[in-house]
Amino acid sequence: MPVNEFLKQCQSRVNSVLEQHLPGQNGVAPRLFRAMHYSVFNGGKRIRPVLVYATAQALNAPFSKCDNAACAVELIHTYSLIHDDLPSMDDDDLRRGKPTCHIAFDEATAILAGDALQALAFEILVDDTSPGIPENKLKMIAQLAHASGAHGMVAGQAIDLASVGARLTLDELKQMHRHKTGALIAASVNLGALAAGNASQQQRRALQKYAECIGLAFQIKDDILDVEGDTATLGKQQGADVANGKPTYTSILGLEQARNSALEQHQLAMEALSLFDKNADHLRNLSAYIIERNK
Ligand code: IPE
Ligand code: IPE
Ligand code: MG
Ligand code: MG
Ligand code: MG
Repeated sequence: MPVNEFLKQCQSRVNSVLEQHLPGQNGVAPRLFRAMHYSVFNGGKRIRPVLVYATAQALNAPFSKCDNAACAVELIHTYSLIHDDLPSMDDDDLRRGKPTCHIAFDEATAILAGDALQALAFEILVDDTSPGIPENKLKMIAQLAHASGAHGMVAGQAIDLASVGARLTLDELKQMHRHKTGALIAASVNLGALAAGNASQQQRRALQKYAECIGLAFQIKDDILDVEGDTATLGKQQGADVANGKPTYTSILGLEQARNSALEQHQLAMEALSLFDKNADHLRNLSAYIIERNK
């Protein structure tokens, strides 16, 4: 199946699971619920849930085992984007082709919507009763918490903010990217494997290596798109990194070298999957998609 079809299939699957889990918009805090809904259902690529499903496929496990994991990683991601766009962070007005949450609502509501989506992600993992899940449930919760918090995404965001206007070395930049973006991408693959429940140690190690490579490639490509993408296609303001003085792969290495670095990570990701059969082709295609995408 071509990667675009697989993306569509997984996107529509995770969207319907997300619909089931998001609170109705007329509950005790309607404005908060509307803001949560607005930010979740506004056309994200759903690449993290797609990676959860593709990992299950690589391990020959049914998608039904990882619906909650797919949903949880997307909720953490969406929360991170809402907060990333805040005036105190990247101060962006446009996200996924629409006004950012704090513009469409207000800053306090955006902060709370992010907080609530984060909590909901963990609630959904805890509530998962799919067959085979309970034994790995605690591990899944621990992995997602670790990847999201002060040793993962949040650390990366802190480094990012502290680095505005600074000239980082390539190693420092890699370290920042691995945390702010790589950690949650790796968690998506790892949660897929834990939900599948049948991966050998060797497979787990290979998947971890694959995930680290595509996680770094994903942020390198994000940096590249900030330079050569266009706002309408990206759905977010092109050139924002330059305007904000952010150190990026392109500002440190230039476009050509940034492209080579992304390709190199893709090749390492392919090598990591060499012990898998054709069931891992979606993972392989997604790695290629990550460095070729135009949004
Ligand atoms: C953007 O992530 C933020 C980064 C971590 C680079 P995506 O490119 O996955 O954003 P959506 O979810 O498709 O909007
Ligand atoms: C955001 O990185 C990473 C997280 C949200 C954790 P960026 O700030 O580069 O993402 P965009 O470019 O705004 O999507
Ligand atoms: Mg940012
Ligand atoms: Mg940003
Ligand atoms: Mg960016």
